[in-house]
Amino acid sequence: GFRVVLGRSGRSFEIPPDRTIVEVLAENGIVVPTSCEQGVCGTCQTGVISGRPEHRDLFLSDEEHAAGDTMLICVSRSLDRELVLDL
Ligand code: FES
Repeated sequence: GFRVVLGRSGRSFEIPPDRTIVEVLAENGIVVPTSCEQGVCGTCQTGVISGRPEHRDLFLSDEEHAAGDTMLICVSRSLDRELVLDL
């Protein structure tokens, strides 16, 4: 698992291996718009303030994956212990 911190409020949430970021945020009342929930539509695209995303989507370009400043939080995870999102 890893920790997600919301950059705007400072709230943080532990993301266990069997849950997605979107699922854990929704459980805590933070609803991020989604559609496909499979990493293909781009609806849940979210800015990354710090930490390296582990991209699992099929939507972003190779360049966007490499830059690491945006991610699809319905499927993608984190390479680092902590990920700070622009939420
Ligand atoms: Fe479609 Fe995340 S909801 S890419």
